[in-house]
Amino acid sequence: MPDLADPIQTIHTLQTQALDALLALQHLIDNYTPLHEDRVAALALQIGRRLELDAPRLQALHMAARVHDIGKINIPLDILNKPGKLSEAEFDLIKTHAQTSYEVLNRIDFSLPVADIVHAHHEYIDGSGYPRGLRGDDILLESRILTVADIVESMSEDRPYRKSLGMPAALQEISRLRGIRLDPAAVDACLQLCANEH
Ligand SMILES: [Fe+2]
Ligand SMILES: [Fe+2]
Repeated sequence: MPDLADPIQTIHTLQTQALDALLALQHLIDNYTPLHEDRVAALALQIGRRLELDAPRLQALHMAARVHDIGKINIPLDILNKPGKLSEAEFDLIKTHAQTSYEVLNRIDFSLPVADIVHAHHEYIDGSGYPRGLRGDDILLESRILTVADIVESMSEDRPYRKSLGMPAALQEISRLRGIRLDPAAVDACLQLCANEH
């Protein structure tokens, strides 16, 4: 039971429980994605700390990252985990998850931009991302951090349909995309963090 004597703590507890419930549901359908989200959340938080985001922004970033792919619940697992190249129609279907995640999370009153951060986690600063083709500073910094963490985790860990490509390849890829698709400061922070660890 939340401690009703502290309203802010109560709200935070209820928000966390709402996210935990969504993740429990996702885990029943797809036991891989919540693990991915957990690892992305840990890395995104480290990048956010390095960029000196304040406590509420770090909290929003961490919550958003934990559930950023919740909309994948709506995508058949055989498409989500398909090895090899996806057809255009399959890729279009996968891309819908960013909007679905936003629509699900926007139903929870976070009083922090959690749903907005998630909405833009596949946007790129050159406007080539989805679902809205946002550019540069029109994308929240928290989303730009999440994008970098998402790419690094996706490449450096095993996925259901392929083995890890390795951390060096992941860091090379974000360096290649630095300032083109990815926020330079977020990339630099991630490179520093991961270089210290590996
Ligand atoms: Fe995603
Ligand atoms: Fe992801």
